[in-house]
Amino acid sequence: MKKCFVMVLLCCLLAAGTAFAKTGTLLVAFGTSMDSARPAIDDIEKAYKKAAGNDPVLLAFTSDIIRNKLAKEGNPVLSVNAAMNELAAQGVTDLKIQSLHIAPAEEYNQLERMVVKNITKNPGVFKTVKVGYPLLVSEKDLDAVVKVVLASLPKDRKPGDAVVLMGHGNDRGPGDLTLAATAAAFHKADPHVWLATVEGSNSFDNVLPKLKASGAKRVWLQPFMIVAGDHANNDMAGADEDSWKTMFEAAGLTVNCQISGLGRIDAIHALYVAHTKAAIDAIA
Ligand code: CO
Repeated sequence: MKKCFVMVLLCCLLAAGTAFAKTGTLLVAFGTSMDSARPAIDDIEKAYKKAAGNDPVLLAFTSDIIRNKLAKEGNPVLSVNAAMNELAAQGVTDLKIQSLHIAPAEEYNQLERMVVKNITKNPGVFKTVKVGYPLLVSEKDLDAVVKVVLASLPKDRKPGDAVVLMGHGNDRGPGDLTLAATAAAFHKADPHVWLATVEGSNSFDNVLPKLKASGAKRVWLQPFMIVAGDHANNDMAGADEDSWKTMFEAAGLTVNCQISGLGRIDAIHALYVAHTKAAIDAIA
């Protein structure tokens, strides 16, 4: 009799526990205000929504400038703080936050600070908050990303054609080290592929002499960023005299551009989803 009562009590407690548990996901990107670039982020959001069933999935942009611009255009996107509060208001107790950044660098660190700030301000609102790493944190990630990106290169590329991927980078921050390893991995996998950065220390000027020395006559440019936004359209493929396209043409090369963000690639979504899952599995 006593044993039976304990069992019933245990069942009630378990039922109560699950009744009050609700999982929600928050996807966080730097953001873009370019319509043509947006599908890269929307595709990732769709993949998460499909996997989440009835659990809420929200998107937040960290860039104040981009959020303000989108709000003025009538397409507001939440900040990290507002999105966390919204998920709490929807009854979410177990929060998964996924960084949609490339490297564990400035933007990712900023996201961590935003999350801690919200939790500190609102103690006890969430039972668990787990943050998934950005795209490239392990050797395994790098191997997978190199394979996926090489497979995404234009089919019209002929043997001997060079490829230059445009990463973002930051010559004062930790992101450059991730991109240095990434550049080396690409070049090892395919000696006609280089990666240079638009704001990092591994600049266009570093890559140009190596590419010329390789004897390549034609080069394909493609962003190594989640969205093909302002940097891809202007700094990479723009008509200005300091765009990579113009500078490669000035060096006598034929230039083709593939303006598509990594967020458009299904296998990239799968890598982010795996990071979200790893963050959940890491802490019991
Ligand atoms: Co930038």
